[in-house]
Amino acid sequence: MYYLKMQAVMAIAAWAFTSGGQNVPVARDRAPGLHSRGNYDMTELQNKLSSSAKIYYPNSTEFDDASARWSLLDEPKVNVVVVPGTENDVAATVQFANQRELPFLAYTGAHGSLTTLGKMDQGIEIYMTQLDTVTVAGDGKTATIGGGAMSKAVVDALWNAGKQAVTGTCECVSILGPGLGGGHGWLQGHHGLVADQFVSMNIVLANGKLTTIDTTSDLWWAMKGAGHNFGIVTSLTTKVFDIQHRDWAIETLTFSGDKVEAVYQAANDYLLKNGTQPEGLINWSYWLNNPGADPNNPVIIFYIIQEGVTTVDGAYTQPFHNIGPISIEPASGTYTDLAGWTGIANSSPPCQKGALANPRFPIYLQSYNVAAQEKAYGVFANAVRGNSAFNNSIFMFEGYSMQGVNAISADSSAFAFRSENILAAPLINYLPAGPGLDTQVANLGNQLRDILRDGTGQDDLRAYVNYAYGDETLQELYGSDSWRQSRLHSLKKKYDPSGKFSFYAPIA
Ligand SMILES: Cc1cc2nc3c(=O)[nH]c(=O)nc-3n(C[C@H](O)[C@H](O)[C@H](O)COP(=O)(O)OP(=O)(O)OC[C@H]3O[C@@H](n4cnc5c(N)ncnc54)[C@H](O)[C@@H]3O)c2cc1C
Ligand SMILES: *[C@@H]1O[C@H](CO)[C@@H](O)[C@H](O)[C@H]1NC(C)=O
Ligand SMILES: *[C@@H]1O[C@H](CO)[C@@H](O)[C@H](O)[C@H]1NC(C)=O
Ligand SMILES: *[C@@H]1O[C@H](CO)[C@@H](O)[C@H](O)[C@H]1NC(C)=O
Ligand SMILES: *[C@@H]1O[C@H](CO)[C@@H](O)[C@H](O)[C@H]1NC(C)=O
Repeated sequence: MYYLKMQAVMAIAAWAFTSGGQNVPVARDRAPGLHSRGNYDMTELQNKLSSSAKIYYPNSTEFDDASARWSLLDEPKVNVVVVPGTENDVAATVQFANQRELPFLAYTGAHGSLTTLGKMDQGIEIYMTQLDTVTVAGDGKTATIGGGAMSKAVVDALWNAGKQAVTGTCECVSILGPGLGGGHGWLQGHHGLVADQFVSMNIVLANGKLTTIDTTSDLWWAMKGAGHNFGIVTSLTTKVFDIQHRDWAIETLTFSGDKVEAVYQAANDYLLKNGTQPEGLINWSYWLNNPGADPNNPVIIFYIIQEGVTTVDGAYTQPFHNIGPISIEPASGTYTDLAGWTGIANSSPPCQKGALANPRFPIYLQSYNVAAQEKAYGVFANAVRGNSAFNNSIFMFEGYSMQGVNAISADSSAFAFRSENILAAPLINYLPAGPGLDTQVANLGNQLRDILRDGTGQDDLRAYVNYAYGDETLQELYGSDSWRQSRLHSLKKKYDPSGKFSFYAPIA
């Protein structure tokens, strides 16, 4: 990560200084930023910002914290952080950046990990964290959420008001980061994707104008699936619902790797049922090393999650019990416990920033091809077992319920993959050690993904933009229908002709 690299450079510099004291003043004189910050001197901008806005320069704890990212592979590089205090501050910052021809990028949860982000080799970070309000409308049908709001804050604020909304599952990602790419979450089986809930939004466009758009705008379609390409959303009005089910239950089953065929056959037969599994039933699985359960090979952690109950219905769990798991752990609680149960709460490892590279290689599937699952398991196990540099990696299979997603017409949004039931992705976790290792990881990730793709019988890869590695084609990220591609290209030409929003899965 950039932060760690900076630390290393500074450590070396400090060592050089102490071993030859007379060099210190010279080095200080040369240190960039001490005398002049050049184009990144923000004094002129500061005068235009609200009193609650903040500006952080490098070599400060505030800068390091605000620019830390989840994945260290191909991180964007920023020279200054602007923390807007108001929606207008975002517009002013974009206008300022445009005047000086400086690149800029919105940071919210900083969990974006596409390698295309690495193309940002300098620029202004616009850190959205202060735009975090959540206000439920008087009629209780919508809420207006700040463009920097994080998932947990929104879930909790709505819960306290007796409401819920479709949000991403993970507590430490934002609402807009997932939502602008579609957005998968626990409640999608009822209501559709995060993006399907959008009612209107305030957005700063490439030209620096702050404007309000809704379904009457030609841009609306693109914001629901390809939205990162078109602006910075400063606030969002989204549908909310009365809480339907407070109770949720989970059963966590751990299997040894030799059960891979039986487990995914059962998932097809008893859970997925070609996208007709009941609403409010969710199954996820992870393959990962858990030496306590199996010292030699990754295990299969299979979650079966059900709403409105305190114990998951035996009709779903019994077929899995029959396969012979290593362990069975039931738990019950409320909707707000789900992230903790599945290891994606604020305190869980995937929410910690700053130490490791975390590329994913996503593919959507309609059902599990059991033979492909077994083959992929074999390759994954060989690559991650024991003392492998990748031994913290996870192969994820997310099976949300789909009724709400399928109920919305496919052409209504730039999100192109409503017919897919499972979101699968190897996440190769490693300590960066140069391009050689990065290439090895890319080869492994693509090999695993290719095995699953071969198993689909489809030629085209369908990849979730928010999990993408960064080398996928526009057809793979946004759908292969030619009307989708031409619509995206013409909107890009109209709204962002010079490609200011071109670091996150850019349409170019
Ligand atoms: C642990 C983990 C769990 C996840 N869980 C889910 C999940 O449950 N469902 C799901 O769908 N995805 C999930 N994702 C993927 C997630 O959608 C992406 O990682 C997304 O980029 C995260 O958004 P962020 O705000 O955290 O990251 P950032 O890196 O801050 O944002 C990603 C990109 O979004 C754009 N952006 C951010 N904020 C705005 C804004 N306000 N307006 C316009 N553009 C903006 C920028 O281009 C930015 O580069 C998960 C990822 C991780 C790492
Ligand atoms: C960074 O901070 C350290 C300690 O506060 C200081 O010694 C050093 O000169 C600073 N470097 C720059 C480039 O500002
Ligand atoms: C798992 O989820 C998939 C995708 O929604 C679904 O098709 C399948 O029936 C589910 N299986 C179980 C066991 O819930
Ligand atoms: C699965 O569902 C799709 C439509 O959703 C249908 O076209 C297909 O034939 C179904 N497959 C099976 C095996 O039932
Ligand atoms: C992963 O490998 C490292 C050495 O590379 C080792 O120290 C660690 O214990 C291993 N972890 C697991 C879970 O096997």
